[in-house]
Amino acid sequence: MSSKDTHTREPFPANAPAVVTCGLPYANGDLHIGHLRTYVGGDVYARALESLGQETAFVCGSDMHGTPVAVNAEKEGTSPEEFALAWHAQYEETFPRFDVDFDNYGHTHDATNTETTQEFVRTLEENDHVYEKEIKVAYDPEAEQSLPDRYVEGTCPYCGELARGDECDEGCGRHLEPGEIEEPRSTVTGNPAEYRDQTHKFFRVSEFEEYLSGFLDRLEGTANARNQPRGWLEDGLRDWCITRDMDWGIDYPEIEGEEPTDLVLYVWVDAPIEYVSSTKQYTERVGADEYDWQRAWREDGEIVHVIGRDIIQHHTVFWPAMLRGVDYTEPRAVMASGFMTLDGDGFSTSRNRAVWAREYLDEGFHPDLLRYYLATNGGFQQDVDFSWEKFRDRVNNELVGTVGNFLYRSLLFAHRNFEGTPETEVSDEVTAQIESAVADFEAGVNDYSVRQIGNATVELARFGNEYIQREEPWNLVGEDDEAAAQVIRDCVQIAKAVAVLFEPIAPGTSEELWSQIGEDGSVHDVTTDAALAAPPRDFGAPAELYEKIEDERVEELNAKLESRVAEAATDEDAGETENVEAEADGESAMSDIEPVADDRISFDEFQDLDLRIGEILAAEPIEDSDKLVKLTVDIGVEERQIVAGIKQLHDVDDLPGTKVVIVANLEKAELFGHESNGMLLAAGEDADLLTTHGDSSVGTKIR
Ligand code: MF3
Ligand code: ZN
Repeated sequence: MSSKDTHTREPFPANAPAVVTCGLPYANGDLHIGHLRTYVGGDVYARALESLGQETAFVCGSDMHGTPVAVNAEKEGTSPEEFALAWHAQYEETFPRFDVDFDNYGHTHDATNTETTQEFVRTLEENDHVYEKEIKVAYDPEAEQSLPDRYVEGTCPYCGELARGDECDEGCGRHLEPGEIEEPRSTVTGNPAEYRDQTHKFFRVSEFEEYLSGFLDRLEGTANARNQPRGWLEDGLRDWCITRDMDWGIDYPEIEGEEPTDLVLYVWVDAPIEYVSSTKQYTERVGADEYDWQRAWREDGEIVHVIGRDIIQHHTVFWPAMLRGVDYTEPRAVMASGFMTLDGDGFSTSRNRAVWAREYLDEGFHPDLLRYYLATNGGFQQDVDFSWEKFRDRVNNELVGTVGNFLYRSLLFAHRNFEGTPETEVSDEVTAQIESAVADFEAGVNDYSVRQIGNATVELARFGNEYIQREEPWNLVGEDDEAAAQVIRDCVQIAKAVAVLFEPIAPGTSEELWSQIGEDGSVHDVTTDAALAAPPRDFGAPAELYEKIEDERVEELNAKLESRVAEAATDEDAGETENVEAEADGESAMSDIEPVADDRISFDEFQDLDLRIGEILAAEPIEDSDKLVKLTVDIGVEERQIVAGIKQLHDVDDLPGTKVVIVANLEKAELFGHESNGMLLAAGEDADLLTTHGDSSVGTKIR
């Protein structure tokens, strides 16, 4: 399916250096595998870019400031700095253990970021993008302190849900400005908060509306990140308060001719600037000849932000406006991942309901298994559920059954019968298969689909299995040795291509495979051309790369999780029960076909239906619903918003560009608070979308 309309730039590899970033983790608690999704996604993406020969810096750092850190440090009775540094040290050690290999991993409290941030703000001031204003801020008279951000809770003025001071985290997801929250309560004492006047600094985001609208047209990445901000822009942008009345943070820089202020910068100012600072540190380490941060950030770099979908607004509105305000490079793409659930239910740190990152490793699982699961279990912007059962199934069926099985049987056969790679050329059929896997891989990169990057290899291995099964080299040996040599030569080449193309997803096992086929050097350093380059002549006996996960293991792991949750519940003795049960979609096999209705309708009655060809322009999952997707459909005469129950049945990313059949004159309906103006026709339980066979244009009536 074509998604060319989402590409606004030359495909990768580009001439300019790329920067891939991952949303900075708050240095405030243990990492679980739900957190890892974006980091693995970013790492896969950065490695895949490098496989295309793209010069890339992959950077991140710990987010040290703000109330998320201050509040948790207070609970532990330590200083925010000590607290955050301890978590930082732990993240710095944990990421590499999952082969999430940042070129630089800094933190927002270091000297580089403090300087870079203050420099940014001074430039924004010089360029007249900042002004001072007196506003009402929440205040706790009993605790005698201001209540920025997470120090206050109340009602979201946009959707009415319970919200934190600066974000409606359980409702509409919007960023909230100081003073916006209704019925504010202090999280320090639980008392109702008062409002007091205080002077703060504001960034004129509203000035950037036109720029941002153009920026969104150019922006690449996942559909959610490109589409969601349009609504916020339409509602009109409010200026952004960039200071906070608290001690922990980066001091507001001194501005010439102004009284210095006591305020610190809002955490969301210095956090994304760490992307720049971290790249700078990378250049400082390797030299500008190797990687030039200035060129990347100040001239023409290709910047790709990989984030969770809860921080789309920061990355598609505030951050690009800031970059524009200091005349830095605008982001090329934002990839926003969906959420993760555990056995259909949310991860919960407080209830110890999580699979912790370090626990996973301590259980002895190879990081590649989880990387594969996280990267390919759904489209990047779809929600993904983890359960040990599903994990077992994907490992056993795909990694062991398809990839591992193909590799082991072919390489073992090659070793035993030919002591390595038979000396003959790769067949045309297999060359074409490898070329098409490389093309899929490249398309995956340019479509920002980590899943496709992974699937390209699994499909190739699947072909490999079919090929060896079909050609039966075991029957050819001794009968037709030349034919046997051909098949095995082909299989070794496929194995090599698997090593090259699977490296971004499974760096550890791909490296093992690389040396199994006798290659020197590292598979991390090669580009996709290596997939078709001849492997070395000799290699030894292979070993199996992936190990099956037994059912008993799964039971054991589930029992551990359960007892932990139970323990946490009795410890806390909290009566709270989680209510978000995932709907189990029972796959009922439809054995009998429905009979045709007896009642006939007249031709006139049929004519009453206004059926038309439409084209899906944009698709965005509705957050609170398991099934619903909000579509923008071009029906020729106009664009329609249509809500359809196809979230789990289709890759939402792939929907734009699809031609569909629409009932255009159906009465409007409201679903989960979203208007649906029309209906999409689809067949059966899989919601197979009706489309046209020829090329009838959008808007054409169906008669
Ligand atoms: N720490 C923030 C969060 O977890 C993310 C910061 S991302 C950056 O929500 F853009 F600010 F860097
Ligand atoms: Zn809200």
